[in-house]
Amino acid sequence: APIQVKKVCCIGAGYVGGPTCAVIALKCPQIQVTIVDLNQARIDAWNSPDFELPIYEPGLADVVKATRGKNLFFSSDVDRGIQEADLIFVSVNTPTKKSGVGAGFGADLHYVESATRRIAAVASSSKIVVEKSTVPCRTAESMRTILEANCKPGCRFDILSNPEFLAEGTAISDLFNPDRVLIGSLQTQEGKDACAALASVYANWVPKERILTVGLWSSELSKLAANAMLAQRISSINALSAICEATGANIDEVAHAVGYDSRVGPKFLRASVGFGGSCFQKDILNLVYLSESLHLPEVAAYWRQVVELNEYQKRRFSKIVVDALFNTITGKHIAVLGFAFKADTGDTRESPAISLIRDFLAERAYITVYDPKVEEAQIWMDLSEACPHLTLDQIKRQVTIVHSALEACKSKEAIVIATEWKEFREIDWQTVYNNMTKPAFVFDGRLLVDADKLRRIGFKVKVIGRGE
Ligand code: NAD
Ligand code: UGA
Repeated sequence: APIQVKKVCCIGAGYVGGPTCAVIALKCPQIQVTIVDLNQARIDAWNSPDFELPIYEPGLADVVKATRGKNLFFSSDVDRGIQEADLIFVSVNTPTKKSGVGAGFGADLHYVESATRRIAAVASSSKIVVEKSTVPCRTAESMRTILEANCKPGCRFDILSNPEFLAEGTAISDLFNPDRVLIGSLQTQEGKDACAALASVYANWVPKERILTVGLWSSELSKLAANAMLAQRISSINALSAICEATGANIDEVAHAVGYDSRVGPKFLRASVGFGGSCFQKDILNLVYLSESLHLPEVAAYWRQVVELNEYQKRRFSKIVVDALFNTITGKHIAVLGFAFKADTGDTRESPAISLIRDFLAERAYITVYDPKVEEAQIWMDLSEACPHLTLDQIKRQVTIVHSALEACKSKEAIVIATEWKEFREIDWQTVYNNMTKPAFVFDGRLLVDADKLRRIGFKVKVIGRGE
């Protein structure tokens, strides 16, 4: 009979650990789930009486409401979480290294390592340890070495790789109904038994044929490959958007025509101001670093270009704005609608809005930002980090944060759409136009507006990937 998982611990209460393990708790009432984190403020927010959770994700609060205090617990007592569990997810952050060997490319694994060392130090019974974070290939091997070198007599550790494929903004529906769950294990009997134990947890709600079991390295590499191929589609369509603008073709029509081929498929072909988010760039750079360390420079260059094209797209869009505004935006007033890296999230990591505002600030424009979900403090933090040569006071002299799209657009010369929030589709453009300085410009980096309608009102409109 497969090993029965009764208690699960998740180390890391972030965008992945929180939603993933909350859904496990919901779908597996017989399992007790404890999510632990060193960050006390984050744990307190997960425990907040009025469900002011630390991350915004549609549907998440309902899942937490249904489970918290029953079989879902949030705690900063990491050691106790580890000791009590029979299966432990390691879901800590793995950012790109900022210094040392592999700086700017390789993954910083010290959070994974310290979580692993903590497991070895405090576990007093055998555990299944699941690598949930996105990591370079062979990290599971390093985790195993650390665990085996430090474990107490009678404890054994089986390591699994179980990368997460959820996207922010749709995390809960992705988790309820995943395209697939991927589990990598050693192909030993113990490895297979551990794999079966984790598979039986998911089998509570995921159809068996969607639970894929593979070797450890394949699992680790598949996660990097999946993100690299998704990002590559966006860079491909964005490269074509530049051709469209230069020729008068329309990127929507091109994407539709190309995506109609069932071999290509219609999803993930939306031209944009560039992709953001905490993972695409990080994971591709990771793949680049891996390829280089394997002495495969052509492979490295291929994937690196996906990131470079994305940087180009962001710069190119800033330049479209400056060029259209008569080659200078110094002293001009620009509204930026959206600051999150995509709709339905408050997450701003690598958001293209940050690059755009940084570029506009370099031209000494005045910026007014509105985002429905991003906290003000987060915006100041991101802009300070993006503009290290400016003090926060200097930034605040140039940037204003407001609480509605209408307010943001008032008396401005231009509007830049950086995030595809649904509420931006419902903007009353006539009112916006009446209150703007003329000529009034709209720059749509998200294929969101009806350009013809806006032109009839009187706007000058530039849409990414449109020739007119
Ligand atoms: P996050 O920064 O939101 O959360 C990580 C948490 O781990 C933080 O709260 C941090 O305090 C905690 N932590 C770090 N070291 C710890 C330790 N030793 N003990 C206890 N807690 C510790 O990160 P995230 O967005 O949830 O991403 C986690 C991993 O999942 C990354 O590897 C990422 O690449 C991957 N991933 C992310 C997404 C996504 O949409 N964000 C999707 C799939 C995979
Ligand atoms: C992405 C993947 O979709 C997930 O499968 C993966 O688990 C996750 O990365 C991860 O490893 O972190 P996420 O970054 O949350 O998820 O969001 P996406 O929907 O993939 O969007 C990423 C960026 O690409 C956003 O800035 C989005 O606006 C942009 N995008 C997306 C486009 O510009 N065009 C598209 O057609 C799709």
